[in-house]
Amino acid sequence: MASTNTTPSFTFVLFGATGDLSLRKVLPALYRAHRSDQLCDDGYIVAVARKSMDSADYHAWAREQVRPHLDMERIDEDDWERFLNRITYVALDLTRQDDFTQLRDALDGKPAARVFYLATGPALFEPVCKGLAAAGLHDGGRIVLEKPLGHDLRSSREINDTVGEIFSEQQIYRIDHYLGKEAVQNLQALRFGNALFEPLWRREWIENIQITIAEELGVEGRGDFYDQTGALRDMVQNHLLQLLAIVAMEPPHSMAADPVRDEKLRVLRSLKPIAIDEVNQLVVRGQYQSGLSGGASVPAYAREPGVAAESRTETFVALKAEINNWRWAGVPFFLRTGKRLAERVAEIVINFRPVPYALMGEASLRAGANRLVIRLQPNESMRLYCLAKQPGEGMQLQSVHLDLAFDQFFKAGSMDAYERLLLDVIHGRLALFVRRDEQEQAWRWVEPIMTGWADSARMPKLYSAGTWGPAASSALLAQHGTCWLEEEN
Ligand code: BG6
Repeated sequence: MASTNTTPSFTFVLFGATGDLSLRKVLPALYRAHRSDQLCDDGYIVAVARKSMDSADYHAWAREQVRPHLDMERIDEDDWERFLNRITYVALDLTRQDDFTQLRDALDGKPAARVFYLATGPALFEPVCKGLAAAGLHDGGRIVLEKPLGHDLRSSREINDTVGEIFSEQQIYRIDHYLGKEAVQNLQALRFGNALFEPLWRREWIENIQITIAEELGVEGRGDFYDQTGALRDMVQNHLLQLLAIVAMEPPHSMAADPVRDEKLRVLRSLKPIAIDEVNQLVVRGQYQSGLSGGASVPAYAREPGVAAESRTETFVALKAEINNWRWAGVPFFLRTGKRLAERVAEIVINFRPVPYALMGEASLRAGANRLVIRLQPNESMRLYCLAKQPGEGMQLQSVHLDLAFDQFFKAGSMDAYERLLLDVIHGRLALFVRRDEQEQAWRWVEPIMTGWADSARMPKLYSAGTWGPAASSALLAQHGTCWLEEEN
């Protein structure tokens, strides 16, 4: 029997249904939602790709290709069959508008609440939108766009204009999968569900904030794509700036989509612009060399398949951002991301200011004596550091921490980001999707960095795989009398 939180009836049209994104993320997420009874019985998936095959062939393909990404010990075979029965395959050349009549035929008789998921390269966005409009399928539908949404401000505007000709902003769901992560939701709960932190969440009490998304993996066979993209476009423009916006935003007047997105936008608009001649001082661009990662030797980035031997693409970025508003003026936000770093970790570190003077000895003046570490992945947790007296005679202070490990406290495992986001699209909830103005503002802010790098003959700073990035990343923080969290230990 369907549970109470199942979706309304829907038809989910997946363009690019044989591509990497579909098999690794979209189909596994839909299956998880199905398995946990969150999809209503009257919910259909129409898988669209160019390859000529029928639904039975596609089901066989999904069995081979999708199941390994389901990281589940046991799959109930009957349940899996029921999932496959939701899927119809339609072979279509997306560049031929006439072909969309076949899609219309396939949608005939299926629920009119349609989601169009574009798991394709952006070059196909325009033909798909036009094809949907020509076949009269776009009305009332929702369209889901995946990054990369442009290469710079101009190209992202072009994409938005193209899609915007057919779909209104209320119909457009731009995915930033970080917004679907449980831990990011929790960050909002921490900030706006508790009174405790709010009075401290400002320049008077916070010395600096660090946001890190470190990956242990390299480019994983995506060298061609990555070499045209780099870490700034792949991670900073979207995931890191979204995290920064959520950390720094004012409380919205409600948690509905637009109030939340308005507040995030205000933060992005308040980011102090980085002038082109400040880029080298405020932004570190790195690229990994060979080294030891996860116990194995790995090649240099420039030796990865698909990567130009002389590539100047960055696999690491560390930067200092500032927010020009009353809450945050003067507080450095250090953002960092990179591939082939020492470990996979995403975390936000809030370093509070020390006590005004050393009443309890020098230890109380130590940077980071009061600190909140919000670990987004792996092992989502929150850790609040403070000082306590060591037991026994005298007055020796020692750093201690209060710990909340989410998986120990909440026995239910957290939901996968894609599962949450796809369910939200089906339910028509826009709050976790990026609005056009946010996306464009983020591009506007990173553009001088791209220009500064493009104009300079400098190579990225090299770092060995398996380390925390180039030395310049530590030096960036040292200028402010601080260091990255792992450097303290
Ligand atoms: C994607 C990037 O958006 O995020 C990838 O394109 C990156 O390069 C990935 O590996 C990281 O996501 P997660 O959820 O594994 O931290």
